[in-house]
Amino acid sequence: MPEVDNEIRGRLALITGASGGIGAACARALWAQGASLALTYFRNVEPMDKLTKELVSGDEDVNQKFTIHCVDTGSAEAIEQLFLEIKEQHSQDGPNILVSNAGYGKRRNGILDVSLEEFDYTINVNLRASFILSKLSIPHMEAQGWGRIIFISSIAAQGGGINACHYAASKAGLTGLMKNLAMKHAKAGITVNDVAPAMIGETGMIPDEKFVEGTPGDVKNIPVGRLGTPEECANVVSMICKTGYLTGQSILLSGGLK
Ligand SMILES: NC(=O)c1ccc[n+]([C@@H]2O[C@H](COP(=O)([O-])OP(=O)(O)OC[C@H]3O[C@@H](n4cnc5c(N)ncnc54)[C@H](OP(=O)(O)O)[C@@H]3O)[C@@H](O)[C@H]2O)c1
Repeated sequence: MPEVDNEIRGRLALITGASGGIGAACARALWAQGASLALTYFRNVEPMDKLTKELVSGDEDVNQKFTIHCVDTGSAEAIEQLFLEIKEQHSQDGPNILVSNAGYGKRRNGILDVSLEEFDYTINVNLRASFILSKLSIPHMEAQGWGRIIFISSIAAQGGGINACHYAASKAGLTGLMKNLAMKHAKAGITVNDVAPAMIGETGMIPDEKFVEGTPGDVKNIPVGRLGTPEECANVVSMICKTGYLTGQSILLSGGLK
């Protein structure tokens, strides 16, 4: 029987979109559990400065290290460059944990508001990037016999959500990608899951309650009566990393919203 190994300490976690609310919370959580980090941002470097100051607390392991990378996940070349930087700066061919979190979802009312260019861009940033990141991560994970791949999807993947079809399609595609990879790579010690949040506050996507007033995601429609927090998303990501028996699952984190 394969050994049970759910240790995070000493692993390298690649987290895309760490300048945003959910990505930063995942970075803090995995760092606190002893992982090294490769963190990406795209347009907003200021939150990275704040996050990296927080990480350097003096409590970290001597072997722990974080690196920061500017990456447009809509660009295949930029993602390939990221892996070259990881190899150079962390001396390994890829991460042990991949949290594909960077996402784009300009709010639109319906299909008639979504241009072909916006549809393609959303698919590239949200779905194609996860394909490329997984493809580049899996060889090293297979060589190690251990890996965790986590996509940050959305309730929109299941047909809900407050945005239009470009966003829903990109997130639903992630679930298909996740389920296929989970089955194909389970024997190699790699688990693949997604977290499907809804209405997470303190993020660029949902800055506060007022932002969603009058929409289907209005707080008064959420059974638990509040927005979720980035830390709650990070809790689920940590749980997935520490639970190797869990694979091929989409975990809806929505305060009871369907
Ligand atoms: N908040 C919610 O309620 C909610 C619900 C469901 C799903 N999600 C998903 O959660 C993930 C994280 O979002 P968030 O809620 O934390 O929002 P956020 O605070 O706006 O963070 C979005 C992150 O994605 C990055 N990003 C956007 N476009 C990018 C691109 N082309 N290339 C590289 N990075 C890019 C941003 O980087 P820069 O800012 O540096 O450009 C930022 O780090 C997304 O995938 C989102 O779809 C969020």
